[in-house]
Amino acid sequence: MAKPKVILTRRWSEAAEARLLELFDVSLNESDKPFSPGHLQDALRNYDAVLPTVTDAITAEVLSAEPLRAKILGNFGVGFNHIDLQVAKARGITVTNTPDVLTDCTADIAMALMLAVARRIGEGERIVRSGRWKGWRPNQMLGVKITGKTLGLIGFGRIGLAVAKKAHCGFDMPVIFYTPHPPSPAICEKLGATPCDSIEAVLREADFVSLHCPGSKANRHLINAERLALMKPSAFLINTARGDVVDNEALIQALKNQAIAGAGLDVFEGEPNINPGFLELENAVLVPHLGSATVETRNAMGMRVIDNLIAFFNGEVPRDKVI
Ligand code: 8YV
Repeated sequence: MAKPKVILTRRWSEAAEARLLELFDVSLNESDKPFSPGHLQDALRNYDAVLPTVTDAITAEVLSAEPLRAKILGNFGVGFNHIDLQVAKARGITVTNTPDVLTDCTADIAMALMLAVARRIGEGERIVRSGRWKGWRPNQMLGVKITGKTLGLIGFGRIGLAVAKKAHCGFDMPVIFYTPHPPSPAICEKLGATPCDSIEAVLREADFVSLHCPGSKANRHLINAERLALMKPSAFLINTARGDVVDNEALIQALKNQAIAGAGLDVFEGEPNINPGFLELENAVLVPHLGSATVETRNAMGMRVIDNLIAFFNGEVPRDKVI
């Protein structure tokens, strides 16, 4: 029987691409340039499996491709807000993702951003590199201590739990959280985590607010001007979830007016275009969607997509079936 035809929309790790090439009839994206909507439609017309990433907007329009050949979208990433699931389901396409393998690295970036913004690492780097450093002094660039401060989590799934563990066990941070689906009291106790009954309660109490809810239409601008105004002026906002969970314009205003102390951002509304307002702010640490960007994790993500494809083409239910 002919091997299933599979197309990658971006370059993967060498090892994951090599494994894919052994198993399937594969088309690689040698240039690593993002696909246009038309190119995505061609992929849906001509391949059994399309393997997209966060940079591919798989909209209703894209999914209207005819005649449709693709039976599975093996997403390289855990978040799937760039895929119109309802339309994919209506068109009979299975969608899988890559949970678990990127949990720790994404949680690590949230911790890194917390430390970077509280300890003014970005600002310090800019001073050293520009030759403006005039030497040590007792009051130079004082930041704030993160150890012992209260961490507030919005969303408490796999990544939120991993952040709680690192913050509680590593930095003695009491954790408060809001989620519609709280874990068991035993898990909360182990992580020093206390549930709150609203997002507002977390925002009022926390010294650091870290977002770990999925990107979705429902969560668009979940953190808006009104909610930012509830945060303490000494508090920091960390976003490793999706850019549009935060009203970026409202956040820029809050940072400009020092209504909050700072922000550490891995994701942006409309990325890779960055609202220029962010660029002038010393109290914002900005990184280019690096959550899962480690050699180990990106390789594991590729392998996880492949495991899902193998199961699917063997007629089994892939372990990471979303729909
Ligand atoms: C990935 C992510 O880099 O998996 C996710 O949802 O946000 C990132 O860690 C990206 O999605 C890859 O497609």
